[in-house]
Amino acid sequence: MDWLRRLLHPHACPVRTGHLDSRHARDVAALHQQGGFARGWEPGECAALLADASVAADGVFPGQSVQPAGFVMSRQAADEAEILSIVIAPAQRRHRLAANLLGAHLSRLAGSGVAQVFLEVEEGNIAAERLYRHLGFREVGRRKGYYPKSDGSRATAVAMRLDLT
Ligand SMILES: CC(C)(COP(=O)(O)OP(=O)(O)OC[C@H]1O[C@@H](n2cnc3c(N)ncnc32)[C@H](O)[C@@H]1OP(=O)(O)O)[C@@H](O)C(=O)NCCC(=O)NCCS
Repeated sequence: MDWLRRLLHPHACPVRTGHLDSRHARDVAALHQQGGFARGWEPGECAALLADASVAADGVFPGQSVQPAGFVMSRQAADEAEILSIVIAPAQRRHRLAANLLGAHLSRLAGSGVAQVFLEVEEGNIAAERLYRHLGFREVGRRKGYYPKSDGSRATAVAMRLDLT
């Protein structure tokens, strides 16, 4: 299991991660806004997602911080899950927070009976694509014109999958 090996990598620097709930809706909305996505998430939308029993969300807390520096959110259906979003605050990037956070989240999903995890990433989002490949996700398809862009054009989505079993 690549993702587990990556998590246990000798150079991996362990950081604190923890479950998020609807009390973190504003933090999640603020972080999502820093993700550079064409469509933002309102705090109310985040609260509804965080209160949804099929949705799991984790945050990463560097040092003694009580505010998450990043979050990951997924939705589970039967033994499959879809990563809905992952964002690390810009000032905290490239410190392996996302790798630790996603690794912890995948571990949680595996413990909830998830066998396969899916996600979509915009073609050209090198940081996210490398992060996912780093944890063992592999490309399973492409959807042209999937993402609306702020300039009116549409970008291709790269669909990826990771088997947890
Ligand atoms: C993608 C994102 C979550 C990565 O967060 P991060 O904490 O900086 O990532 P990490 O430091 O844990 O990096 C883990 C691996 O991902 C890859 N990676 C991360 N950022 C990268 C970058 N800017 N360029 C190239 N590779 C990168 C590397 O393989 C890295 O491993 P390495 O440290 O051994 O080189 C962050 O850039 C982000 O929030 N982006 C905006 C939101 C977004 O695009 N989310 C994904 C939507 S599908």
